[in-house]
Amino acid sequence: MRFLRLDASIRVEGSVSRALADIVEQEWRRRHPDAEVVHRDLGREPLPPVWTDALAGAMTPDGSRTDDQRRAAALAAKLVDELLAADALLFAVPLYNFGLPQQVKHWIDLVITDPRGFDVDRPLLPGRPAVLVAARGGGYGPGTPRAGWDHGTPYLRRMLVDVWGLDLRTAEAELTAAGTNPAMAHLEELAREHLAGARADALRHAADIAGRLGTDAVAQVT
Ligand SMILES: Cc1cc2nc3c(=O)[nH]c(=O)nc-3n(C[C@H](O)[C@H](O)[C@H](O)COP(=O)(O)O)c2cc1C
Repeated sequence: MRFLRLDASIRVEGSVSRALADIVEQEWRRRHPDAEVVHRDLGREPLPPVWTDALAGAMTPDGSRTDDQRRAAALAAKLVDELLAADALLFAVPLYNFGLPQQVKHWIDLVITDPRGFDVDRPLLPGRPAVLVAARGGGYGPGTPRAGWDHGTPYLRRMLVDVWGLDLRTAEAELTAAGTNPAMAHLEELAREHLAGARADALRHAADIAGRLGTDAVAQVT
């Protein structure tokens, strides 16, 4: 059994998305103590900016690639290997400037340069269970002044669900800046409720997936 955890927050101390991802990871480890958890931390260890070489490498026959193109293609292949080897996947992604952290977009761009990720009409990970935990400083729900301004989560869902075919569940914490932004002081109680809901969702999704994987493993043996 193998899990892939991907983090994208640039902070560790106080990170809401990492704390929510910890809930999922701990539940998976509790239910599958022998499982390996592969950790790709895009926030702390950004990928090198090799997308141009990876793309050129993908278009160039193997023997004619430059060293840079070969290295970039190898990195893209490693990222796809990590995805394909995972029985379940966990993505912890904050909202930055109304969109995805650039490292997550770069990671997606690299994956798509690999021959296995190139055809966006052929799902890379059909039916594979996954959890997305998202953290946003503000509020983007229906009726709020910035409803529709979260361009990160919808894009990520488009890629993870519609392109890669993942069976995705989400746990989302909004208003995370209420504790630090004085202008949001009146939203602190609501922020606490959001966080409690997100924590409960994260645990429920993790338990559901862990249980399903266990059942599948038994079914395969018998
Ligand atoms: C560079 C940067 C840009 C951000 N942009 C937004 C934004 O556009 N909208 C928003 O609601 N919060 C924004 N935030 C706040 C984060 O979404 C919020 O702090 C979230 O909890 C970050 O995830 P983390 O707690 O896992 O670090 C931004 C934070 C940073 C560091």
